[in-house]
Amino acid sequence: MALRSFTQPMQLPMRVWDAPTRLFHWAIVLLIVFSYVSVQANWMELHLLSGYTVLTLLLFRIVWGFVGSETSRFARFLRSPLAGMRHLAEFTRRAPDTEVGHNAAGGWMVLLMLLLLAAQIGTGLFSNDDGATEGPLAKHVPKDLSDRLSGLHGILFWVLLGTIAVHVGVVVLYAVVKKQNLVRPMLTGKKRLPAATPAPRMASSLLALAILAASALVVWAVATRA
Ligand code: HEM
Ligand code: HEM
Repeated sequence: MALRSFTQPMQLPMRVWDAPTRLFHWAIVLLIVFSYVSVQANWMELHLLSGYTVLTLLLFRIVWGFVGSETSRFARFLRSPLAGMRHLAEFTRRAPDTEVGHNAAGGWMVLLMLLLLAAQIGTGLFSNDDGATEGPLAKHVPKDLSDRLSGLHGILFWVLLGTIAVHVGVVVLYAVVKKQNLVRPMLTGKKRLPAATPAPRMASSLLALAILAASALVVWAVATRA
């Protein structure tokens, strides 16, 4: 035991993900599944409602990326592309997890997923189904442009799905190759890290609620007044 603690630094649980970021993550997972199911079942009103909820969460996450907890900030997790490639080159090395937030490669993947989500919602706002349903901004553009954006909305869904498949695949690879469980911290917020690791600064949940409320207000204005 003494030898083990000498060769391996002592590890202590540390809060790495705040509750707002975790709730954002698992809520979008459920809502993306529901967005697809609602289209298949032709529950278009619910599809739009689900889309507005994802838009609210996305607006929240963008603002949170500037003023939220340290590990959720873009400036913290978007490191140089070179650092990202260096991280990938060392992927097969089995070592204890020392990452406090997203790793240098994962950060870019997060940005890609957020951008794809924004494009999915952005095109949805202008889409129509040649029937009773259209996004709230569809009436402000010519019908043929709305038709093309509807087509793009359908294609983007599969691009988003492909990216999500890679995302989940990488999480599984971390578990299998590096023996690192990234899912538990996304559920509980906590990760075991070397005792000397400085704890990331966490932002207030009240601030998160205020940003969420402001995001909902913006989306409500777009949905009802556009
Ligand atoms: C609709 C499907 C999904 C989407 C759109 C998605 C998107 C994202 C995004 C945007 C983040 C960054 C979180 C943030 O900083 O706000 C993230 C992180 C993460 N996701 Fe997902 N995700 C999906 C499904 C899943 C599933 C099914 C799992 C579990 C296997 C998962 C596990 C994780 C983990 C572990 C992280 C943190 C990675 C790290 O430690 O850096 N995700 N995901
Ligand atoms: C995460 C967000 C979203 C996802 C995953 C999603 C997914 C989808 C999918 C898979 C389709 C079927 C496309 C096809 O049949 O080719 C669709 C259609 C549609 N979506 Fe969304 N959507 C989202 C957000 C939105 C938003 C925010 C709106 C508008 C407020 C919207 C409005 C529509 C409309 C009007 C259609 C019918 C277009 C057509 O039949 O081609 N969607 N969506």
